Amino acid sequence: MKWIYSVSLAVTLAMQPALADELFGPHPLTPEARDAFVTDLLTKMTLDEKIGQLRLISVGPDNPKEAIRDMIQHGQVGAIFNTVTRQDIRAMQDQVMQLSRLKIPLFFAYDVVHGQRTAFPIPLGVASSWDLDAVAQVGRISAYEAADDGLNMTWAPMVDVTREPRWGRGSEGFGEDTYLTSEMGRTMVKSMQGKSAADRYSVMTSVKHFAAYGAIEGGRDYNTVDMSPQRLFQDYLPPYKAALDAGSGGVMVALNSLNGMPASADSWLLKDVLRDDWQFKGITISDHGAIKELIKHGVASDPQDAVRVALKSGVNMSMSDEYYSKYLPGLVKRGAVSEQEIDDAVRHVLNVKYDMGLFNDPYSHLGPKDSDPVDTNAESRLHRAEARDVARKSIVLLKNRLETLPLKKSGTIALIGPLADNQRDIIGSWSAAAVAKQAVTLRQGMLNATAGKATLLYAKGANISDDKGIVDFLNLYEQAVDTDARSPQQLLDDAVATAKKADVVVLAIGEARGMAHEASSRTDITTPPNQLKLLAALKATGKPVVVVLMNGRPLALVKEYQQSDALLETWFSGTEGGNAIADVLFGDYNPSGKLPSSFPRSVGQIPIYYNHLNTGRPYNFEKPNKYTSHYYDAANGPLFPFGYGLSYTRFTVSPVKLSSSVMPRNGTVNASVTVTNRGDRDGATVVQLYLRDQVASISRPVKELKGFKRVMLKAGESQTVTFPIDVDALKFWNARMQQVAEPGKFSVMIGLDSATTQDAEFTYL
Ligand code: BGC
Repeated sequence: MKWIYSVSLAVTLAMQPALADELFGPHPLTPEARDAFVTDLLTKMTLDEKIGQLRLISVGPDNPKEAIRDMIQHGQVGAIFNTVTRQDIRAMQDQVMQLSRLKIPLFFAYDVVHGQRTAFPIPLGVASSWDLDAVAQVGRISAYEAADDGLNMTWAPMVDVTREPRWGRGSEGFGEDTYLTSEMGRTMVKSMQGKSAADRYSVMTSVKHFAAYGAIEGGRDYNTVDMSPQRLFQDYLPPYKAALDAGSGGVMVALNSLNGMPASADSWLLKDVLRDDWQFKGITISDHGAIKELIKHGVASDPQDAVRVALKSGVNMSMSDEYYSKYLPGLVKRGAVSEQEIDDAVRHVLNVKYDMGLFNDPYSHLGPKDSDPVDTNAESRLHRAEARDVARKSIVLLKNRLETLPLKKSGTIALIGPLADNQRDIIGSWSAAAVAKQAVTLRQGMLNATAGKATLLYAKGANISDDKGIVDFLNLYEQAVDTDARSPQQLLDDAVATAKKADVVVLAIGEARGMAHEASSRTDITTPPNQLKLLAALKATGKPVVVVLMNGRPLALVKEYQQSDALLETWFSGTEGGNAIADVLFGDYNPSGKLPSSFPRSVGQIPIYYNHLNTGRPYNFEKPNKYTSHYYDAANGPLFPFGYGLSYTRFTVSPVKLSSSVMPRNGTVNASVTVTNRGDRDGATVVQLYLRDQVASISRPVKELKGFKRVMLKAGESQTVTFPIDVDALKFWNARMQQVAEPGKFSVMIGLDSATTQDAEFTYL
């Protein structure tokens, strides 16, 4: 039966509570019970109510709370995002329960990417830990804090593999590698969703941005992606699949086009791959305004066309544009979209609401009103110890000449730099509801660590940038960067004078968080020139200089590498960043992080990644030859390779032992090494397994990460690390797009970074 819906009918029906009350639980959280429930619910809904469920609204200036109240009353909204307190969320859910006809609960979402109230390091930093327990810690606590604020869903994890340091959004992902990103994405999903997204302290994840957003041309945000099917399936798609296989309830569709087709209009991607091949049962959500953008992409002639294309291509829910609500009724009326197609999309929305437990209790993540925190930002709601623990594991030591580090907690230390005492930048972009004022700066962290034992001097030394255009860009929507009233020369002179009074200089330089964000692409990936000038001036004092980098992308660090005595990559390390960095600087924690991306020497080398093909003319730096694949005007290879990171102790890796020199069809070979801590400090490192298919039907990469293990070793201690290698690790997509493992020889390479390895080989029969 078709409902002809009108406002007066809605008002009449709102007075019939029985119809709605029967919706609510207890409902068993099984797919069968859910399907029966949703099928039944769909029969009760009018077309307008169904279309309302497809709308995801961001609360903000365009949609103030009052306007949303009206929409909620008329069943015109399915979910809300950017509302992050229990009070606000409760008020909206109350409106549904009190005013709407069917009382279908809203779900509430937010970009909880690296913490909700407590900022953990940015994902690129977390990836540097190569520690899945640390990742799970981030996931669990982020979900806990988000659910404690009443949220049901997060727009995370972002698993866009990227070889593009120019792209600002690499900060939100886990780096350049498919395997590492897959492991981290899967762990985030499992830890955030817990046993069930309906649990009090779990949230449902929405994996993003499907697909291949990280491969945008030139690293320019929102740009085109074009790649071979082999590369897409081999390198870019597996992390999404891993996260979905881990049970993610949602997928966010990318803004970019892929091989000419905008993702939101790509039924091959959203239906053939996602639904048919991967058997994804959850919900697809457009990215912000993406449906409108189909017109600009040139695949839809007008708004109605855009809506028709998106819905038919498999975009279930529309984020932040009114297009579905506005145009679907007309499209259904004239038969361009069938009610069945609407039902299919709505079913996914209702399914995830069911899985979130909202039909058992629409207030399940809210609790009773009197349990609401008096102070949303209360200190007691933070998880500082866990954030500090993850942050120290995320720090990567890139250089340590003559054991400059760790520093002694005595004498005089000059702390200098625009990022040394900055609470806003250290928490990184996409820091959800984290409050900058609660962040520990490096200055505070060093004061805490030295507490009266050493003298800490401070000078700002430089602004983030002296380029007015860049500063204006960063301050476009908020006062994000404060510019010191003193002239650049005064700042510099003050810093040099401060350095001269000290035994050692710690210089905190890099990017403001807004420089590594959405729509923050750069053509130049060096530290801004005024900060480099500061570094050169401090180096000229002759004092040892420890450079502490804060940034959200691989930077070209040639100058920093040459002019520093020690170099520490700390990313944007979160609420407890200052304490964590101080732990490393003073040796209370021995650095163990490893780079999740190659660091180029210059922007001209991009793309540069460790798992490249060999080419027919590989460059050999020991025997340089003109007619080989290289640049003649620069050193070749990255400045720091993928997987690289030093320690205050020294580890060695034994030759590789294989359990057999042959792997039978579908069998296993175990590869083992013994790692020894030869120094006199305890420490952790990450043992990395790489494989190479020596001869195959298509060219295969020189190495690919297939396993890793973080090990903690006491001074002098050894441990044997064994990696089981099975046929899945040998598989690739061949020229006919079949996923195969081909017989032949495979190199096994095990090391503590991707460049220096112990090698062996086996034959796959
Ligand atoms: C971003 C998404 C994000 C969404 C909601 C978009 O601009 O591309 O990653 O989840 O906004 O904030």
